[in-house]
Amino acid sequence: MTEEIAVIPGDGIGKEVTPAALEVLETVGDFEFIEAEAGDAVKEETGEALPEETYELAASADATLFGAAGETAADVILPLREAVGSFVNVRPARAYPGVDALRPETDVVFLRENTEGVYSGHENRLSEDLSTLTRVVTSSASERLAGFACEYVEDSEHEGFTVAHKANVMRETDGRFRETVLKVADERGVDADEVLMDAFATHICLDSEQFGVVVCPNLAGDVLSDLAAGLVGGLGLLPSANIGTENALFEPVHGTAPDIAGEGVANPTAAILSAAMLLDHLGYAEESARVEEAVTSVLDEGPRTADLGGNASTEDVTSTVVERL
Ligand code: NAI
Ligand code: MG
Repeated sequence: MTEEIAVIPGDGIGKEVTPAALEVLETVGDFEFIEAEAGDAVKEETGEALPEETYELAASADATLFGAAGETAADVILPLREAVGSFVNVRPARAYPGVDALRPETDVVFLRENTEGVYSGHENRLSEDLSTLTRVVTSSASERLAGFACEYVEDSEHEGFTVAHKANVMRETDGRFRETVLKVADERGVDADEVLMDAFATHICLDSEQFGVVVCPNLAGDVLSDLAAGLVGGLGLLPSANIGTENALFEPVHGTAPDIAGEGVANPTAAILSAAMLLDHLGYAEESARVEEAVTSVLDEGPRTADLGGNASTEDVTSTVVERL
């Protein structure tokens, strides 16, 4: 059976890096691609940032490849993650040979809770002076994340994971998160240690080698993975996978990069590595490894885009990756 892949380029450099990822998928596999719209541009046209048919497509496709959305990002990506039933956002941050990274020894994977925390949308303006936000943490979502983390560790060469939290202050919500995750790890016989998330931000800058798999609440995962992007050479390098109960959505961590959009110079690495994660998820482990190998060799030998100190275009990098494949 040919798998059906939904392709949603979105806005800005999403429109430039998604075709690059698609070219790579076409080179190594035989998939049916169905393109759909989402983001600022379609909102301007139709009034809706996420058309119903795009939501339905993501919900029914075997996997979705997403680029980025601009101002409407929250109206697009949060419902899309929901469409695929995603409960975890997997974000690897690895320093590749040949890339001038601040911390070249970094090789860390964030497993970010993807449905609740402060991103659950319960914000209120109560008066002229006062706005509030309700932070949601459930045992069930924390358990599901922890179960995934245990499987992730068992299927990899990692010896355990670190849970990053702020339970010393948010005693109820992060207290529940911390306790639940550590309990699941204990029951499954997986080593787990813990770190306060603010201290983690310092530790990873000073000595990133001590961290492998990091399990964290939603906002912390968002912020700390961008921090790790800075350590390994920038946002142009970080892929991500939103894994769901039924299907999954793959996207670069970066946004629409309005400062370089339209110039054809965006780094396609994050999008191509997201495609590699998609391949792995669909069971094409060998193809996934080949793509990562090709990307690794191009990062090492060039050509490179401007964010990595080179002057190559998105297309130069993509065609070189395809050649290597
Ligand atoms: P951004 O990730 O778009 O850009 C931050 C910086 O990194 C910029 O200087 C940009 O040029 C650079 N950069 C990012 N990706 C790059 C790539 N592939 N190659 C070379 N350089 C790259 O984040 P920013 O500027 O905070 O947000 C811009 C827009 O993107 C906003 O409208 C925001 O809402 C949206 N956004 C959407 C996301 C999504 O759809 N998942 C995620 C993050 C932001
Ligand atoms: Mg982010």
